[in-house]
Amino acid sequence: MTFMPSSPVRTPQTHADSTGLRVLPEVLAALDADLRAADFTVDGVQQRLGPVASAALDREQSVPAKRVVTTDAPLDVLIRLFGLGGAERDEHIDAALPGCRAAGLRALGLLDDDGRARFDLHPHADEAHSWWVLSDLSELVTGGPLPDDYVLGIGGASTTLASWTVRRPAGRALDLGAGCGIQALHLDAHVRQVVATDIAARAVEILEFNAALAGTDWQVRRGSLFEPVAGERFELIVSNPPFVITPRVAGVPLMEYRDGGMVGDSLVRTVVHQVEAHLEPGGVAQLLGNWEVPAGTDWQDVVRQWLAPTELDAWVVQRETQDPAEYAELWIRDGGHRPGTEAYERMYAAWLDDFDARGVASIGFGVITLQRPATKRRRFQVLEEHSGPVASPMGPAVDAELAALTWCAEHPDEVLDQNWRVADDVTEERFAAPGADDPSVIRITQVGGLGRQLHIDTAISAYLSVADGDLTARQALVAIATLLERDERDLLERAQPIVTRLVETGFLVRT
Ligand SMILES: C[S@@+](CC[C@H](N)C(=O)[O-])C[C@H]1O[C@@H](n2cnc3c(N)ncnc32)[C@H](O)[C@@H]1O
Repeated sequence: MTFMPSSPVRTPQTHADSTGLRVLPEVLAALDADLRAADFTVDGVQQRLGPVASAALDREQSVPAKRVVTTDAPLDVLIRLFGLGGAERDEHIDAALPGCRAAGLRALGLLDDDGRARFDLHPHADEAHSWWVLSDLSELVTGGPLPDDYVLGIGGASTTLASWTVRRPAGRALDLGAGCGIQALHLDAHVRQVVATDIAARAVEILEFNAALAGTDWQVRRGSLFEPVAGERFELIVSNPPFVITPRVAGVPLMEYRDGGMVGDSLVRTVVHQVEAHLEPGGVAQLLGNWEVPAGTDWQDVVRQWLAPTELDAWVVQRETQDPAEYAELWIRDGGHRPGTEAYERMYAAWLDDFDARGVASIGFGVITLQRPATKRRRFQVLEEHSGPVASPMGPAVDAELAALTWCAEHPDEVLDQNWRVADDVTEERFAAPGADDPSVIRITQVGGLGRQLHIDTAISAYLSVADGDLTARQALVAIATLLERDERDLLERAQPIVTRLVETGFLVRT
């Protein structure tokens, strides 16, 4: 929607009270079979659209896709109906979904009288599973600011969290702020009982629908933060919480799908503080978050203060930072408002005032992984920045890193007495000034995980060159001290924290 410069601040509409969705198991089973038969899958849709139209849709541009799906073939009808806001004739829907038919879609509450879908329905998949995910109609289809009770579909943050989640088999897991249930769907593949919670009534209805469509039996509960799971513990908790920092002033709508209604970054801080009581010993919590960094402070100080009242292990990776203006622009646009309107400018000023009031110089975004130690020991706290590409999925690397960090915390004095070997994905490069005999820089790189690079010295490089699991680190380093004519004790003392970090970060692994 285009706003005239003089238009007043527009508060987005709220949906009717109920979604109107109905969970009818037989009709859902027919819909599932029809969608499969029509190849309305991630690969099927991508192949039909081709790379250009698919990439444009990812950027929320529908024109290229509309120019491709022009026939009455089932897949074209379904892409138009569920992803592009098209109105379809009943006979075409009947042909595309012969078991469910248009009448079945209407019975489920998915189809309007005029042949338009009332919700988005997207195929989604990981390496081993495929699903369909229902959510509210996107801005691409409605063309206007999002309603404040909008239930978000699968976004970039959703897939980031799903990618980083540790996929260990678990008894019970919680998806807090489940929205359409994208995290819960992934959890379902490796967790016996999934509890999915959300504060929004609309999200709860959509969660129940998506659970039934996927044939799962999650416990869906409504309530704020940990209220619906009071007194309960989980082996895994995931949350893509409503972390967006929003000014609390009239004219800036509270959009439940992204905003928890608190001041500044308090919501994510509250989740960090409250999650510990809901983790089993050894249990892991993974969440996304924004943090405000006041002028003159460091993001790590901010996050360390969040962690201070807890006994949790933490590995926090800051993925990007924005200044207050960039942040305001991102989230005003995300709500469907465009520059050049009075509403946009008024909201922009409100965001800047809000950050000014707390002296915020930048806002960090990152992935927080927390663990409740299973034993009494010193906890670990690793806070690092990494803005580059990471492995996809990232979960296996997170799992391995948590295990390595935990081992090092449990065996602080034993690292040099283990037979480590260099991980298979590690390479070494040497840089020397022209004509020099010795390198001035030795850099090791890991291909997997965060793709970290570290600079090491000659002694550590010599150790890595022999670290194949035959010798302990101490045995190898003693021999290297003799070879390099270095003081043995001094070399071991210097090497100990470096070898520990190489183990924690997966450059060195167990034989
Ligand atoms: C960013 S969405 C995440 C949706 C989904 N889990 C995903 O990964 O895409 C945040 C969700 O949190 C919900 N929410 C907002 N405030 C909440 C609160 N106080 N307690 C629980 N859920 C809340 C919203 O309704 C929304 O569905």
